[in-house]
Amino acid sequence: MRKGLFALAAVGLLATGGMAACGKDKSDDTGSGSGTKAGGKQVGIILPDTKSSQRWGTDDPKYLKAAFDAAGVSYDMQNAQGDKQQFQTIADSMISEGVKVLITVNLDSGTGAAVLAKAKQAGIATIDYDRLTLGGGANYYVSFDNVKVGQLQGQGLVDCLKAKNYTKPVVAELNGSPTDNNATLFAQGYDGVLNPLYTDGTLVKGPNRSVPDWDNATGGTYFEQMLTQNNKIKGVLAANDGLGNAVIEILKKQHLNGQVPVTGQDATVQGLQNILSGDQCMTVYKAIKKEADAASGLAISLAKGQKPTTATGTTTDPQSKATIPSVLLDPEAITKANVKDVIADGFVTKDAICTAALAKACTDAGIS
Ligand code: BGC
Repeated sequence: MRKGLFALAAVGLLATGGMAACGKDKSDDTGSGSGTKAGGKQVGIILPDTKSSQRWGTDDPKYLKAAFDAAGVSYDMQNAQGDKQQFQTIADSMISEGVKVLITVNLDSGTGAAVLAKAKQAGIATIDYDRLTLGGGANYYVSFDNVKVGQLQGQGLVDCLKAKNYTKPVVAELNGSPTDNNATLFAQGYDGVLNPLYTDGTLVKGPNRSVPDWDNATGGTYFEQMLTQNNKIKGVLAANDGLGNAVIEILKKQHLNGQVPVTGQDATVQGLQNILSGDQCMTVYKAIKKEADAASGLAISLAKGQKPTTATGTTTDPQSKATIPSVLLDPEAITKANVKDVIADGFVTKDAICTAALAKACTDAGIS
């Protein structure tokens, strides 16, 4: 099957070789929404939304752009703005534009798989970026060890609850989108840590809900309902920083922020600030530059008709049982003690994090 793909990629390159050679076209910016033009780009990239996490509107586009620009490979990067119809429309235009490679972050596996099937039919190589499209049959998958992300969150919450000396604290869980395979993997990771502790009575299992589309406002509404029904909640496993912040906003209204440890993910500016202020227990840093470099590296080889050699792992699609060549990166837990690592890695700047209100917290955390 992979042989077929490279044969197709090579034919595609031959057929459009002239166009690619003289098509020194500038790439669209993310979210330009301007559709695609004839004489198209070599790589199409569809990001999911700009609201569920800072990353999709800021970090991923920045690193992907840098990688493709450095390689001189043209690309068309657009954001579906949380709209599945829009996701498909963008994909259709990229396919008819003649991209050689399509990188997608699906909004759900159904629409994601439909797009991958169309791309495959058109001889376009496909890369699942960050989220695996169940039953989608992408040629490559680039992400993090997402079960480990969840384990770090679960362990982080347990550590923060221990530090508070709570006895049998009630833990609420606010999971990511039920249509995001990553959310399933995160939950697998943190429930693997929390379930035995519910069973042996160390922790008490509280309310547990999944938040459609990772919508932060919905997450806040859900948590407000949870807290109204159970004012003994002492810890919250929130699946990312956006949901964590929505929880913190509700806790603030009850003057409970800082007393109820809350987890997160993505090492967003807001998440890191919430950690420094003591309102958030931890976040998970996923080096998005590495993820973007891995995906763009694969795409650049494929666009040139070369066989990539960088996918060293594999992932089994739990739905189709297909084996997908993968790059799976390592996530890192971040607490107050190592916020400075995220700055040292160049993901965020001290200036962005250390506002006047957080100046002392930054100094205390060794951020100089
Ligand atoms: C990503 C997270 C992100 C979440 C919401 C997940 O699939 O892995 O980094 O916070 O989606 O966008």
